[in-house]
Amino acid sequence: MINKQSHVPVYAQIEEQLKTQISEQKYPVGTMIPSERELATQYKVSRMTVRQALAELVKDGLLRREKGKGTFVANPKLEQPLNGLTSFTEDMRSRGLEPSSQIVVFEKKKAPFDVRKDLMLEEGEFVYYIIRVRNADGEPMAVERTYLPVHLFPRLDMTALESSLYSFIEKQYPYQIGNAIQQMEAARINKEDATFLNVRPDAVSLLIKRTSYLKDGRPFESVHSAYRADRYKFISEIKR
Ligand code: GLP
Repeated sequence: MINKQSHVPVYAQIEEQLKTQISEQKYPVGTMIPSERELATQYKVSRMTVRQALAELVKDGLLRREKGKGTFVANPKLEQPLNGLTSFTEDMRSRGLEPSSQIVVFEKKKAPFDVRKDLMLEEGEFVYYIIRVRNADGEPMAVERTYLPVHLFPRLDMTALESSLYSFIEKQYPYQIGNAIQQMEAARINKEDATFLNVRPDAVSLLIKRTSYLKDGRPFESVHSAYRADRYKFISEIKR
């Protein structure tokens, strides 16, 4: 099964074969795969080589390790379409997952320079600054740092943010959400977010920055979100 003459490294061949076996459900989601020792015997390679293959699959989010137990087939990544302006709550519900949030920070402060630019605010104007950990079925998926202009939302209480900000805006105010500009980049997770998301300090996150506008063109939020790269993939439809 392994071709030692190939220019493809042996660990990469094993990785590929395990990937196929996972996608063909030889090992369904949640099952434990054979131990390093068993795989090493099966492929007639060293345990180091097997370890390297497994490490790659863990990094890609196909496998997860449980200390003292073994290596298991991970839940597939959530596919997040990038075509519509949807909320976290809508995204989770559309997949049959239950959204929830922990509010870590909720404060009013003078808008920092960058936020002022995004939200078209004058110097000295106030914003709400909110940090929320967003969960799907209780599992932390993303950390969001949101700035909202106070002048647009004079009555904003914390309970609104425990569920959906967008539905609060559209229900409590005569506002209609229009469009947003998003930027996306990959980054090594920062220490604080690794704790919030309960991931290793060397995990990778997908950073999305969104500035959103009401239908009348006024910007109403500036948000930095860090999504777990091991649990998320972003999909967009592109037309020629
Ligand atoms: C997504 C976006 C955020 C937005 C949030 C609103 O997560 N990345 O920019 O603020 O949805 O979600 P909800 O209405 O569930 O609070």
